[in-house]
Amino acid sequence: MIGIFDSGVGGLTVWREIRRCLPEVSLIYLADQAHVPYGPRSALEITRFTEHGVRELVARGCSVIVIACNTATAAALPHLRNTFPQIAFVGMEPAVKPAVALTHTGVIGILATYTTVKSERLANLVQRYARNVRVIEQACPVWVDLVERGEFDQPHAFAQVADDLHDLFSAQVDTLVLGCTHFPFLSGCIQRAIDTYSPNALIHIIDPAPAVAQQCQRLWRAYAPARADNIPDKMLLATTGDAQSFAQLAFRLLNITPAFEGAFDIVAITP
Ligand code: DGL
Repeated sequence: MIGIFDSGVGGLTVWREIRRCLPEVSLIYLADQAHVPYGPRSALEITRFTEHGVRELVARGCSVIVIACNTATAAALPHLRNTFPQIAFVGMEPAVKPAVALTHTGVIGILATYTTVKSERLANLVQRYARNVRVIEQACPVWVDLVERGEFDQPHAFAQVADDLHDLFSAQVDTLVLGCTHFPFLSGCIQRAIDTYSPNALIHIIDPAPAVAQQCQRLWRAYAPARADNIPDKMLLATTGDAQSFAQLAFRLLNITPAFEGAFDIVAITP
């Protein structure tokens, strides 16, 4: 079984790609909504919450675990690898290298949470791959809350997104890296902001979820090739928050029609 962990619903952007790549494998998604957002929290706190979630996924039989959260990866991945040596982990980090390969203006924007923007992991990536381009690291602290509240397609969401992108447009950015798994759910607002405020620029938006799903597929084939996973009758989505509101939001974000809602099991687990 593959476990997918995030602070909230953002990792569903990764879940849907993994499901596409590995439809035969059973997946469990765990959202730590009791503690979302992780972005403003200390690395120590994020590590503690993430370890708790991973323990739950291990107890349920996961052998591959995707930390579908840039913030938790930056804060906790080395600790998780030491603590659970039997588990194959996939982490997430801002796609700096692909962005450098794409840019023509030589200006890339990294959109992420405060913790990710301040992290040593991002500093190392920039140092390693982006010495010859200008990197603008933009923390977008409100975006996670907008998605968690299901306000990803409303006028105030668009206004917030446009406001946070303003300086990047002025700097002639032509490549935006979505460095938080919640952000692809705001791609409608991001595209509208580009069309409205930077209509003549060709701006690439990089969502690393498909690449992460491919990495997960490679690891799954390498670590669990012989074990035929019985697909459970239902897809399992778990939250440390309120199961009912989680289900409603997850179905909206994933465009699950009422006829298909019965294919999911939604469970609440202790934070
Ligand atoms: N979705 C997470 C990320 O990729 C973190 C959001 C949060 O809880 O602040 O960084």
